[in-house]
Amino acid sequence: MLGTRPSAKIRRAGLADLDRLLALEEATFDVDRISRDQWRRHIRSDSATVLVAPAARRIDAAAVVFYRRHARVARLYSLAVGAHARGTGLGGALLAAAEADARKRGCHAMRLEVRVDNPAAIGLYERRGYARIARLPQFYEDGADAWRYAKALTRVTQ
Ligand SMILES: CC(C)(COP(=O)(O)OP(=O)(O)OC[C@H]1O[C@@H](n2cnc3c(N)ncnc32)[C@H](O)[C@@H]1OP(=O)(O)O)[C@@H](O)C(=O)NCCC(=O)NCCS
Repeated sequence: MLGTRPSAKIRRAGLADLDRLLALEEATFDVDRISRDQWRRHIRSDSATVLVAPAARRIDAAAVVFYRRHARVARLYSLAVGAHARGTGLGGALLAAAEADARKRGCHAMRLEVRVDNPAAIGLYERRGYARIARLPQFYEDGADAWRYAKALTRVTQ
C-alpha cells in the first residue's frame, strides 16, 4: 500500500501562502529552515516549483522542487508534512505531484538528500522507488550526514 491520498488537493503556492508556509517550516524543521525571503524567491522563480496541500487555516504540507537550465535532473529540495497530518499519504501525494511536475518540465530523474537519521522520510522515498547513491558527510547545518537518493522518472508509477 503506497498510501497515496489522490483526493488531496495540491496546487502551486502563491505569495499569499507565505505566512502559512513559514508556520509549517518552523513547526517541521529545527535547522536548515527556508526563510521568508527564500520562500518568496522560490515561489516567484522560474527554476523552482513550490507545491502545497492547503487546509482551512493552514498548509498541511509543502514541497519544493529545483530545476537547472539545460539539466534534466530535478532536485526535491524540501518536503514537509505537518505533524497533525502525517501517516495519511500526504507525503506520498506531494512526492508524486513533485515528480509529475518534473516530468512535465522534461526531467528524466529526481534526486534528493535526506538526513541519515530520518527513517520516516527514508522509508517513504525507498518505497517509492528511490535508490541510495551516495553519503554526503556533514551535509546539514548541524553537522548531520545526508543520503543522496535518485529515481528515474521515465514512467509513471503512481
Ligand atoms: C517524511 C514525511 C514527509 C512523510 O510524510 P507522511 O505524509 O507522513 O508520509 P505518507 O503518509 O505519505 O507515507 C508514509 C510512508 O512513510 C514511511 N514512514 C512514515 N513514518 C515512518 C517511520 N516512523 N519509520 C519508517 N517509515 C515511516 C513509510 O514508508 C510509509 O510508507 P507506507 O505508505 O508504505 O506506509 C513527514 O514525516 C515529514 O514531513 N517529516 C518531517 C520533515 C521531513 O523529514 N521531511 C523530509 C526531509 S528529506
